[in-house]
Amino acid sequence: LDGELVVPVKVGTVGGALHSNPAATVGLAIAGVQSAAELAEMMAAVGLAQNLAALRALLGGGIQKGHMSLHARSVAASVGVPPESFDRVVAALNESGVIKDWKAREILDRLERDERPGGVAVPANCPKSGSAPGSAWGKVILFGEHAAVYDRHVLALPIECAAVASLREVDDETRLTVSEPAGTERHVVPRTAAGGVGGMLAYIIERLGLAGRHFDVRLELRVPVAMGLGSSASASVAIVRAFDQLLELGLDDEAVNALAYDCEKLAHGDPSGIDNTLATYGKPILFRRNASPAIKPIELSAMPPLVVAASGTRGITRDQVNAVRERFSRMRASYDAVFDQMDGIALAGAGALAAGDYATIGGLMNVCHGLLNALQVSTPELERMVDIARRSGAVGAKLTGAGGGGSIVALCPGTVAQVEEALRGAGYRIVRMQLE
Ligand code: MEV
Repeated sequence: LDGELVVPVKVGTVGGALHSNPAATVGLAIAGVQSAAELAEMMAAVGLAQNLAALRALLGGGIQKGHMSLHARSVAASVGVPPESFDRVVAALNESGVIKDWKAREILDRLERDERPGGVAVPANCPKSGSAPGSAWGKVILFGEHAAVYDRHVLALPIECAAVASLREVDDETRLTVSEPAGTERHVVPRTAAGGVGGMLAYIIERLGLAGRHFDVRLELRVPVAMGLGSSASASVAIVRAFDQLLELGLDDEAVNALAYDCEKLAHGDPSGIDNTLATYGKPILFRRNASPAIKPIELSAMPPLVVAASGTRGITRDQVNAVRERFSRMRASYDAVFDQMDGIALAGAGALAAGDYATIGGLMNVCHGLLNALQVSTPELERMVDIARRSGAVGAKLTGAGGGGSIVALCPGTVAQVEEALRGAGYRIVRMQLE
């Protein structure tokens, strides 16, 4: 913006009442002005900036929104949030809608705990094994999302301890409290018709034959929600495991996985089953929904150097899967060809992964991303993130999950720190896959 303001401003910098007001002397010292004319110019410039800012707010998000985020910045400053966490605390404050000192402190505490070296997004008290009662894995799809729905191979790796559930039986009514990585906590209505995680809890209670009994359920999601990282499947697996532990139901992995798959159907319509499978078994898996067996675990000699970054823009799996289905029905041959190609990539990727051949994996990830773009599930923001990752040293980068928002995954042999730094610097959140 470039503007000019002509306004008469009559001020003085010496004499008169100035000496009786020490704040005026301090103000002049801070401004560093040498004369009354310079002070007048500075005041006009501030006025001009304010006018332009007000116009921008009116044309953009509106005055109230700007006011609240300014307020969030003041609150964050007033509780001493350090510069490196400032923007994220402000963003989380705005997202929570609770612009209060205590909330800013709570968010900061959580961020600091999450970002201890070696443990972003997964506090130390998380059970070491994702199969421990009440906890479950998330997932990062390396190859084959969407094609998976059409019975092609998909390959995914686990995110440790993505969800933790705890519960106790109570007399009055079932309640569910969900906390998320941003520090927000919400109370959810556990009714099937309510959909979401509340609907899922009601459905699990019914399926486990517990209708008429009441529970106080706490669900802690450690991966960001609607970011393509399997939060909904990990929530159902964690809750089912918590019931299993409390009531000694004797559910094995297969039973947990089957129930979580039915929950996924409630949430997403026609899922392939990859998310619940990863949430239950927590292994690198090559999966094909109608194959027998559908699950083929992959033995890795070492975890590949991956960086996962969440865009912060929600990607809704059901919407993306439905949109792909609609396009598939109009362009069957083209879409089938893309799915076949993704199938081949997932199979080749499984071999390269087992061999630790990062150059090949990276190349395949790049092609897979191009194919996902062809399916129209990428967004300008995901393209930007992929571009940042590649330019900062990733040998491969792609969107992961259903797309339309969500996350990217990048393969970064020897360049993890710089890719993380570049993505973080651009305002994206890094999600750790492993507890350390
Ligand atoms: C979602 O995590 C992966 C999709 O392929 C859907 C599915 O396989 O169920 C987009």
